This record gives sequence, C-alpha cells and structure tokens, in this order.
Amino acid sequence: MPLPEFLAELDALAQQAVAAFEAAGDAEALEAARVQFLGAKSGQLKAVQKGLGKIGKADKPAAGKQFNETKKRIEAAQAAAVERLARGAGPSEETTGFDPTVPGIRPRLGRLHPITQTIEELKDIMGRLGFSVAEGPEVEDQWHNFEALNIPAAHPARDPLDNFYLATAEKTAAVPSRKAWLLRSQTSTVQIRVMEQTSPPVRIISLGRVYRPDTADATHYPMFHQIEGLLVDHHVTMADLKSVLRLFARSFFEDDVHIRFRPSFFPFTEPSVEVDMSWQGGWIEIAGAGMVDPDVLRAVGYDPEQVTGFAFGVGIERICMGRHGIDDIREFYKNDVRFLRQF
Ligand code: PHE
Repeated sequence: MPLPEFLAELDALAQQAVAAFEAAGDAEALEAARVQFLGAKSGQLKAVQKGLGKIGKADKPAAGKQFNETKKRIEAAQAAAVERLARGAGPSEETTGFDPTVPGIRPRLGRLHPITQTIEELKDIMGRLGFSVAEGPEVEDQWHNFEALNIPAAHPARDPLDNFYLATAEKTAAVPSRKAWLLRSQTSTVQIRVMEQTSPPVRIISLGRVYRPDTADATHYPMFHQIEGLLVDHHVTMADLKSVLRLFARSFFEDDVHIRFRPSFFPFTEPSVEVDMSWQGGWIEIAGAGMVDPDVLRAVGYDPEQVTGFAFGVGIERICMGRHGIDDIREFYKNDVRFLRQF
C-alpha cells in the first residue's frame, strides 16, 4: 500500500473516532465507540494496523510513527469522554450543534438548592392562604430576639452557651443591653419587627436562617432555616391555627395529613403547643406554635383586649427531610453534587 493512502486512511479513522467519542452521551455509547475503534480483536484501529505490514520497507518508520500518533489521538478522545461523562455532562457541544440563541427550551444549567426550593414552595403555599412575606435581619438585638418575646434577662434561653453573641457587644460596656447583638436563634424576631411597624390585622410569614451553637449531628446543625407564621386579628382562635397548619401540611406533603397538638411551652405564646403530623403510619413533629402571649402584644403596643393572634415556627430542613426521606441534616451542607442533583 502506498504511504499517502495509508496516512489518509489513518487520518479519516482518527476523525471518525474522535467524533464518536465526543458524541457519546452515556456509558453505553462510550463502550460501543471503544469496541468499534479500539477493540483488541476487531476494532478499526487494529484493522488499519494490519495494513502496516503491506507498507514498503522505506516507508515503514513514517507509517509506524503516524500510526502511533493516531492511536494516541483516539485514546485521548476516549479519556476526555470518560472524564466528561463522569462529570455528568452530555455530548460535547460541537458535535450536538448546540446553539444558545435558538429559541425553545432553555438548557437546565445548575439548579436551586433543595432548601431554596422548599422555601419557594412554602412561600407559594402560604401566599395562597393570604400570608405575605416579611424579612428580618440575621444579626439581631436582644430586644427582638428575647425581651419583646417575653424572654427576660435572667431567662436560661439567653445563656451564652446557647446563643451566638457577637463578641463586640460584650466588649463595649456602654452599649445598652438592647443593643447587644447576636445571630438570631429563631425567626420569631420578625413577629416583633412586623408588629412594631404595622397595626393589626397582620398576616405574615418570614423565612430564613437561624443560628444555635449545637454540635452538628444527624438532626442538628449550628445554622438552619425556619418559617415563622403570624396572624393577628379580631377573634383569632386555636381552631384557626389548626386549620392553617393542616392546610399548610396537606399542601406541602401532598397528602391528607392529620394534625395533632401536644401541650408545650414557649415564653411568647400561651397556650403553647408542639405540632405533630400523621405521616406514613407515624407522627412527625413539624412545628412549635401557640396563641400570641398578651405580654408580647403589649410589648409592641397592641391591645390584647382588642386583638388575638397565633404564631408558629417550622424547621424547614426538618420538613424537607421528612418529605424526601433524607435522614441526615448534614447532607444539605456538604455540597455533594450527587446529593444536590436529585432535587
Ligand atoms: N420560635 C420557636 C422555636 O424556635 C418556635 C415557635 C414559633 C413557637 C412561634 C411558637 C410560636 O423553637
């Protein structure tokens, strides 16, 4: 075989093989391309190698060199395809002719974190029940995190071991206690902020991060998310609280769930309850809740003789875990794409 013909054959083969590896969209296609081009028995490269024997003696070194280079080129394309599929990417763009300017379905690049997705969904559900979203700061003063919520100075909930106080607060002796800062330990702070700024009726939710110095384990993490709900109006009762929570749980869990109240205690609600939901044959705790304590209403300038209200706080990680069968809260914060890609 004349040398130029052999070299042309090698080149055509390399181009074909590289294209096949680039187009491989899954492990099966990758294996098919491997067998077709690099297969030890009947691969095309093997077939071309046989042609090497028919090359004239003088041309042999050049032909052999080109053969080795072609083999390397094909193997590199294979390695690139293996790496690309391991990353979870599809066929490379050149071969699929991907054009981002063509109208139609937008490619799904990245995705929202499951907690963000849950937050969006909760806003949607509660929005349909007439609750609007209120925001509050994550760095709080003691008035909003404690005092106004009926948690006085000597209360154990204010223990420095149970809260992230900001170091600057302690150091500045002249700062009044109201201005000693901490990372909020609950979203109930936003109840106060909203009531201070608006007169009743109030119907809000607030969603965001809260911080507690807990050691991370399967059910604890020093930062997590809560959704707080607050409704204040004339004649609000526990029955309203139960109806809203049941509608909330039914929408989120897409199931006809039952709600159970267990007596509990929170300084800012009276009576206070722990809320459980029947789910897949058992009960799971979903919220702390209760009727807003008259002292709290008074602290924000409301008249407890005129208005009553209910409030609830739900751990967002907890209900997201319940719904998806996730058994370790730490999964949310490892940033392992294999976990995150599922949502
Ligand atoms: N803030 C409470 C907690 O973090 C939950 C709660 C909110 C309880 C509203 C009652 C009313 O545990």
